[in-house]
Amino acid sequence: MKEQSKEIDKFLTSLLKDVGEKLFVDADRNKSVATKSGRNDLVTNFDKSTEKSVVQTIKENYPDAVIVSEEGYGDTPDSMDGLVFFVDPIDGTMNFVKRRDDFASMIGVYLDGKPYVGAIIDVMNKKIYHGGPEIGVYENEHKLENPENLELSQGLVDISGPMVLANKFNTQKVVHHSSGIRIFGSAGIVFKHLVTGKEVMYMSYLAPWDLAAGRVLCESMGLNVVGVDGTPVNMLKSQVVIAGTQKVVSEVLETVKNCD
Ligand code: IPD
Ligand code: CA
Ligand code: CA
Ligand code: CA
Repeated sequence: MKEQSKEIDKFLTSLLKDVGEKLFVDADRNKSVATKSGRNDLVTNFDKSTEKSVVQTIKENYPDAVIVSEEGYGDTPDSMDGLVFFVDPIDGTMNFVKRRDDFASMIGVYLDGKPYVGAIIDVMNKKIYHGGPEIGVYENEHKLENPENLELSQGLVDISGPMVLANKFNTQKVVHHSSGIRIFGSAGIVFKHLVTGKEVMYMSYLAPWDLAAGRVLCESMGLNVVGVDGTPVNMLKSQVVIAGTQKVVSEVLETVKNCD
């Protein structure tokens, strides 16, 4: 098992490094942009071409694996049996379109429903966060220490903007009790801040491909990832997710429970 984890980790890092090099150049290019569910939900030609080639490479190397991906080139499984790859070709498409630096590409792999290997590339900083429960978590080649189990008052939180504006789940109280809020607009970039101890909590409505890689890395480092009611996350549906240090997730779940 550990050998297979290492092999998949090597596969993901090499694949995402190639993706990262291409997107680094594409970031500066003109893009063809279309809307999906609304004017703030965008997709570009690069989201589609990246996903198409990533899905094809996974299929060539892991022909029996199931692939769940955002832009429609993958499968639609109803079970988590076997190897399942979750692909988010560009995470933070709005930032990518606005020529901001904070976007990522990510792949999370699960084996029989359990977090197995994950990788997130911070394209513009050329840093890749990767690993899993059997092999540890790395920033490029450097192994990361588990983040300190900080309390809410000791750290920064990232919560989706609309959720805070509407004070959904008592999120304004959470922000008041923290060191402050940062909103990056890319789940992958927020997960990077969680695993490097720069933020203590992330709360957002996430699709499986937004969550998959970050969940693998967080849980491999002693961080907690749960649904908004404290139950385990379901990788086959979109849901509101709370990820963070053990202490902060408990504090936030208490605050959520007391919301009107
Ligand atoms: C989005 C980003 C954003 C999060 C959204 C996601 P996308 O991913 O991760 O931070 O708030 O829910 O959909 O669409 O740019 O891949
Ligand atoms: Ca999208
Ligand atoms: Ca995406
Ligand atoms: Ca995403």
